[in-house]
Amino acid sequence: MIRKIDLDRNWLFLFDRDSGEFASFGLRKCGAATGPAAVFYHEGLMRRVDVPHDWGVELAPDRRANTEAGARPISPFVPADRSPDGDTHLPTYAVGWYRRHIPLDDSDRPRRVLLEFEGVFRDYILFVNGVYIDRHASGYTAAVFDVTEVMRPGDNVVAVRVDASQPEGWWYEGAGIYRHVRMILTDEVYIPCGATFVKARVSGAVTVETTVYSASDAERKMTLRCRVLDAAGACVASADAALSVPPRGTAPCALSCTVPAPRLWSVDDPALYRAVLEALTDGPSDPAPEEKQARTSSASAEESEPLLLDETVFGFREVVFDPDRGMFLNGRHLKLRGACLHQDFGGFGVALPASVAAYKIHLLKTMGVNAVRSSHHPASDDLLRACDEAGMLVIDETRLFGASPEALRQLDDMVTRHRNHPSIILWSLGNEEYVEQVQSTDAGERMAAVAYRRLKALDDTRPVTFGANNGSADGGVNAVVDVRGFNYVRNVERLTVDSEGRHVPGGHADRYHAEHPAAVMLGTEEGSHFLCRGAGIDDFAHGRVLGTGEHTAMGGSTPDGWVRFYEARDYLAGAFMWSGIDYLGEPAPFTDRNLSSSFGAIDLVGIPKHTFHYYRSCWTDEPVLEILPHWDFCPGERVRVAVYSNCEHIALTLNGRPVGEKTLAPFDCARFDLDFEPGVLEAVGERRGETLRARLQTPKAAAKLLLTPVADPVTGEVLGVDAAVADADGVVCARSDRPVTFSVEGGRIVGVGNGDPACFEPDKYLPRVVTRPLDGWRVSRGGGPSEPYPVPPIDDRTGVVDHGGVDSVFKRAIDEPRNPRYEDEHRLVWQFSTGEEKTLEATFEAVFDDDGDSTFVEFERLFGAFEVFLNGVLIGRSFPVDHFHPGTLYRPAPYRFAGRFVRGENRLTVVMRGPDTRQMGVYGGVRTGREEPPVWRRSTFFGHARAFLLPDADGATAYTVTAAAEGLTPARLTLPR
Ligand code: GAL
Repeated sequence: MIRKIDLDRNWLFLFDRDSGEFASFGLRKCGAATGPAAVFYHEGLMRRVDVPHDWGVELAPDRRANTEAGARPISPFVPADRSPDGDTHLPTYAVGWYRRHIPLDDSDRPRRVLLEFEGVFRDYILFVNGVYIDRHASGYTAAVFDVTEVMRPGDNVVAVRVDASQPEGWWYEGAGIYRHVRMILTDEVYIPCGATFVKARVSGAVTVETTVYSASDAERKMTLRCRVLDAAGACVASADAALSVPPRGTAPCALSCTVPAPRLWSVDDPALYRAVLEALTDGPSDPAPEEKQARTSSASAEESEPLLLDETVFGFREVVFDPDRGMFLNGRHLKLRGACLHQDFGGFGVALPASVAAYKIHLLKTMGVNAVRSSHHPASDDLLRACDEAGMLVIDETRLFGASPEALRQLDDMVTRHRNHPSIILWSLGNEEYVEQVQSTDAGERMAAVAYRRLKALDDTRPVTFGANNGSADGGVNAVVDVRGFNYVRNVERLTVDSEGRHVPGGHADRYHAEHPAAVMLGTEEGSHFLCRGAGIDDFAHGRVLGTGEHTAMGGSTPDGWVRFYEARDYLAGAFMWSGIDYLGEPAPFTDRNLSSSFGAIDLVGIPKHTFHYYRSCWTDEPVLEILPHWDFCPGERVRVAVYSNCEHIALTLNGRPVGEKTLAPFDCARFDLDFEPGVLEAVGERRGETLRARLQTPKAAAKLLLTPVADPVTGEVLGVDAAVADADGVVCARSDRPVTFSVEGGRIVGVGNGDPACFEPDKYLPRVVTRPLDGWRVSRGGGPSEPYPVPPIDDRTGVVDHGGVDSVFKRAIDEPRNPRYEDEHRLVWQFSTGEEKTLEATFEAVFDDDGDSTFVEFERLFGAFEVFLNGVLIGRSFPVDHFHPGTLYRPAPYRFAGRFVRGENRLTVVMRGPDTRQMGVYGGVRTGREEPPVWRRSTFFGHARAFLLPDADGATAYTVTAAAEGLTPARLTLPR
């Protein structure tokens, strides 16, 4: 039996820098890790988070931080030219800690306990119950850890130290546990994640290859059964195999069956099936008593309850690449109209809920895109599931190119985990590795060959590609792959490589095709033009580039430039635009003033840009007629207006006067330069005998906010709200950018954004901690009289308090040689308190007034075995191990204990016990405090800003969102959730 338990909720988080000096973790003794890795750790300062979680996007952008990575001060690096004071180190938020308590019920009797992390950015160490388990470097691959031996009935503490200081890419990559986590409970006989490969042919033939593992000391015999279920859950085929798994060994197995007339998976009808693997068995040799009893009545394996071992979603489809005609899906020609994707999204960073990953795919689908390239790293499971379900083809790409152990590990993790997804049509070995050093070299070829062989051993059903930017070079990595990937076809025009590997001009895709008739050619990356949503004029000073995509990066082309090129050539299998959706980081060409990219056809918060409409006019069959960007400029400004349409002919009028017309061939668009005058800009188009109309109007003065739902175009699920500044008639005022505040009932805001690549406002707001000092302490030592206790400060520089820690105990032992506590007959016994000697007692007490709104008390330092009472209620106590960290060696983080305060008089009591009341004390200050909810705000950009929402687990069925901006009528909207 296999049980998967979602562990996404109820994590605790804090930065390493806040966890106490020298705390980190110690590996001195097994199970005795220190700091946040320890079993006992005061968690009061930790913040409750759910995963997916990205702490990077919670940090406010900082102009000194690396804009290539989204200007978040995750890593301490500051480019020298951005640091006016010459200080090239920012305070760093590079290392974070997560903790989670996992109660394990003894009655579960799991034989194996596995923890599965789908993705953590990056370089993390997993501790369970204070035991160092393992380290995983890649920020993009999943990992499963077998923690059976260290888990125990009752409470278990999982701690994860995440170090995001080093980048793996050149874009915003996030920080933290940003994909899902689960616990997997299995019997002693189990199928590990990724061990099953379902190979399905369009004929209906299914082969399920798997490996059964056993942790049992006895040989285990079983019947392994595979059942294929259709979308309705009906069993449509099955197969059995007798299997014997050796003691503590593995047994590979292949089962075959045929599904009659399977529904094929395609982009239009993404039919999915499930292969369920079950064991019919005599069961474990040492069954739990209740299992034993249940099994006495079972006479044979055939009659026993089948144990679920594994479940795999798959599809029947056939992908064929042809060097002359491109790609065929199930025998039907399909031009790949693709989009490269990074994984973040506005307001969420890289921590996307499944619904948002699906939203990205659905937006692209409505634009006419039929394939995505997960660039330049393995896709998340949520994204791949969304692609399987939406009929979106995928290139899945490994992050680390090469033949090194780490590169091959990443390849293994990606391929074994993802190979059952029908959406994946190609594996990519990498992207644009340096040409002279790797891509075009013999070394590159050797590395690629090792990776290629490894990949084929894990999946012999899919071809392999690579995003190459070395023109028409055909050696090196290009000599290895099945599908020759071109990053930017212009590179083929611009570059070719001579016999000595030097770049020389010349060459062309057509010539390459003629000279390499057997090569399948694919545009793994294309486009790379800069465009800002809403921009009708270049405004470089503010980092805004005209929205038509006419300015390109080196090697890039205009939207219609690359589309026409690929659509005109049958031998090209298609291409993947850079990029489908904007992403944080890589803010070219304005690395000095912007923090997000502007390559996307859709902006960072999901709002279509100019080219969205262009691609939709090219690739969908829906009638399209759109005028971009808006008609809200200053009189006299010269504006570039674009009309995107699949009409045969369009005509444009301004205030009734004709200002342009164009006959459109397929894949054409129309651009006009007009002098702005207020009024109405109207387009009329003729399409297959029908007339289409589109209209833009100049708004009057901004008067109100408009709220509309942001909903998934396929599922209809509400993901957030769009706030637009509008005039009294509801016409959007694109020129009126203002700060908007958002609030919601029935859920919570998780992020805000506006698609402006130059906006340095926060994407997230966290509760603000407000504290008040708490003075007026008195102490009574050893039952003596109560006397005033001025809380002694902690030395700021060293963090040391002379409270009689190890050093002073040792010193006293020397000073007082006859003290029997520190001396036996012949030798000095130096000893510090163990916490077991709770012989003496001191009581510290403060009586104070509170408004009743405080929620916690925070002590900078407590020394002694302590118990803390608020109004007579125990709210915190020391752990036995606290005493092993005398303050001279270790500076713990402040202790924060939650408690219920009352309005009026409150009494805080700290009872301390130990061998010597002189050491015991409250040091460095005491504070009461509370958290204030944040105010969410974001300025509009070309009239729009968005807030994204998630439901709270409170059963409410609707969100009510309010948006307000100074001088405008606020808006309120109630939405189903
Ligand atoms: C490509 C690269 C992408 C992105 C793009 C921007 O060369 O593969 O990751 O950087 O350029 O133009």
